[in-house]
Amino acid sequence: MSDTLKIIKERHSVRMPFDPSRPIAKQDLRQILEAGRWAPTAHNMQNFEIVVVDDKMALQELGNIKRTVSETFIRENYQQLSFSEEELLRKKVGLLGTNFPPSWRTPGVKPIVEEGSMRPLLTCPTLLVVLYDPGRRAPASEGNFLGIISLGCMIENLWLAANSLGIDFHIVSSLADGPVEKEVKRNLAVPEHLRVVLSIRLGYAAAGPARHPRVRRDIEDFSHHNRFGNKGID
Ligand SMILES: Cc1cc2nc3c(=O)[nH]c(=O)nc-3n(C[C@H](O)[C@H](O)[C@H](O)COP(=O)(O)O)c2cc1C
Repeated sequence: MSDTLKIIKERHSVRMPFDPSRPIAKQDLRQILEAGRWAPTAHNMQNFEIVVVDDKMALQELGNIKRTVSETFIRENYQQLSFSEEELLRKKVGLLGTNFPPSWRTPGVKPIVEEGSMRPLLTCPTLLVVLYDPGRRAPASEGNFLGIISLGCMIENLWLAANSLGIDFHIVSSLADGPVEKEVKRNLAVPEHLRVVLSIRLGYAAAGPARHPRVRRDIEDFSHHNRFGNKGID
């Protein structure tokens, strides 16, 4: 149990460039996929497919897809940002502004879309593109809510397995953005009925470990004893 908890607590995002000359060993990749395979899914629907992209040309083509970012993204993203580590440690939720291009975190400045391009994908030896089949849904699940939760369970399994093998992991969800998704599907010959969930960069950070501060709400903040509002469990 303590090993499991340790892996859960140490799992983290690595957003920096990965060393393109350090591939993911096939047996490690198999173990990561094996962890995804055994994830719980609602009604055991196993509603996912994963395209493993390690061909350099294919990665380059994905990385060259033009991304447009919506005003809604910029506005809602801005609301989640902290502008210093102190602020982040105090708030315990959200992200540091430095994770985003300057024009995306400056109020009143028109965001420069190119700053958030897909180029980081070029520096990853393996990209997992997670797809889901909206047709493979648990019965009577409004909005396929249960199916979407299931994808989260599966992705968490991939993440824990990768980190436990010492492999860095970075979710890039922008591959699922409307016009980008269309291009991704075309590039990877994904059948029309499947949707892109997100993509995952796997690799080894080129510059070695550089951890960002990781914050979480306290247990007493989100747990409620017997009735909502009785904060904590004591
Ligand atoms: C569904 C989902 C989508 C995410 N999308 C992105 C993303 O597009 N880019 C990114 O850098 N991180 C992304 N993340 C990572 C989160 O920002 C990260 O897990 C969170 O800030 C906590 O940091 P930690 O993973 O280091 O604990 C995503 C995570 C999840 C679960």
